[in-house]
Amino acid sequence: MSQEAVLARINVMKPLLGEEEAKALADVVASGWVAQGPKVKEFETLFAAGQSVRHAVATSSCTTALHLALVVAGIGPGDDVLVPSLSFIATANAVTYVGARPVFCDVDPATGNVTAETIHAALTLDTRAVIVVDQGGVPLDLDPIRELCDRHEITVIEDAACAVGSTYKGKPVGTRADIAVWSFHPRKILTTGEGGMLTTNRADWAARVRTLREHSMSVSATDRHGSVLAPPEVYLEVGFNYRMTDLQAAVGIVQLGRLPEILQRRRDIASRYVAGLAGLRGLRLVSDPPYGTTNYQSFWIEVLPSFATSREGLMEKLADAGISARRGIMAAHRQPAYRWRDGGNASLQHTQRLNDRTLILPVFHDLSDEGLGRIISTIRAAAT
Ligand SMILES: Cc1ncc(COP(=O)(O)O)c(C=O)c1O
Repeated sequence: MSQEAVLARINVMKPLLGEEEAKALADVVASGWVAQGPKVKEFETLFAAGQSVRHAVATSSCTTALHLALVVAGIGPGDDVLVPSLSFIATANAVTYVGARPVFCDVDPATGNVTAETIHAALTLDTRAVIVVDQGGVPLDLDPIRELCDRHEITVIEDAACAVGSTYKGKPVGTRADIAVWSFHPRKILTTGEGGMLTTNRADWAARVRTLREHSMSVSATDRHGSVLAPPEVYLEVGFNYRMTDLQAAVGIVQLGRLPEILQRRRDIASRYVAGLAGLRGLRLVSDPPYGTTNYQSFWIEVLPSFATSREGLMEKLADAGISARRGIMAAHRQPAYRWRDGGNASLQHTQRLNDRTLILPVFHDLSDEGLGRIISTIRAAAT
């Protein structure tokens, strides 16, 4: 590919990072305190306030936050945890890490999210927790799930990796779950390079996650290094090194301040897609569900059989025009890592359909008008 072609290429995602983030990083470097410390604490406080929850604990990734969520919820060998197969594989992997069995459930074909019905259909006698996912940023309908799970004493963990800025019934997603987890990978709305967060209203769980993420030391590294005569520490249980650094948190603080601007821009781009692709036969576009708003982390479209070409055909046409789209959300039960497992008996027909037919179009802050126009006209041309 020529250099011009590479430069003209439109990627599916590009993080919004600028001088403010660079300055925040330089300040942390100059302070000499680069590991978990005051910036992580500040990021946690700001994040908890923004998400309307009592406690936020920063971690090295959303995957590690998911792992700790299951540990503090007491999930282990012999337990079943319901998860959508239609999710990034980390959702199912976290269940495997604690020795429990991931049991796959289907999703609502409209939103791509699990519902009380799909969970009910997959329940087993050993189900102790569910991990529900706001897939691609589309909020899931949590209240009926909460009601079902409360009846069966099942812990609800919300994998909100993609959903910072999405709302459910007028509030940030994540507030009604027992625990929610978030990702700051560069593919997400806010990024710290790598990084995650766990939020909960339970003080006891937040406190345990805080120690588990740093080897279960009774004295935090911040307190140890902050004192001249460090108190002796005790290792209360087998813990992990799942810490975020102050370098990452400093970037996260700046990113959090940009969230309203980022969300507005993504919604503007989404409405351009909706207007530009209007009237095309055989395409279904992601949209807000009746009970909430998506942050449009992923703008996905479903290519129906009535469209002029297949999903793969459309991706090829986009690639020929220098546009990098992505196949839609993966289905974990189709991957070698999980294919051999007895994943329960629920039908996964909607999961398979969405996995086969959806694709994700580019959405990022600096996507130019020219770029958007090129994507829309390429799809319109493919439709004829
Ligand atoms: C739904 C979901 N859960 C978990 C993860 C894992 O996040 P991280 O990369 O921060 O571990 C992702 C990342 O893509 C995701 O989309």
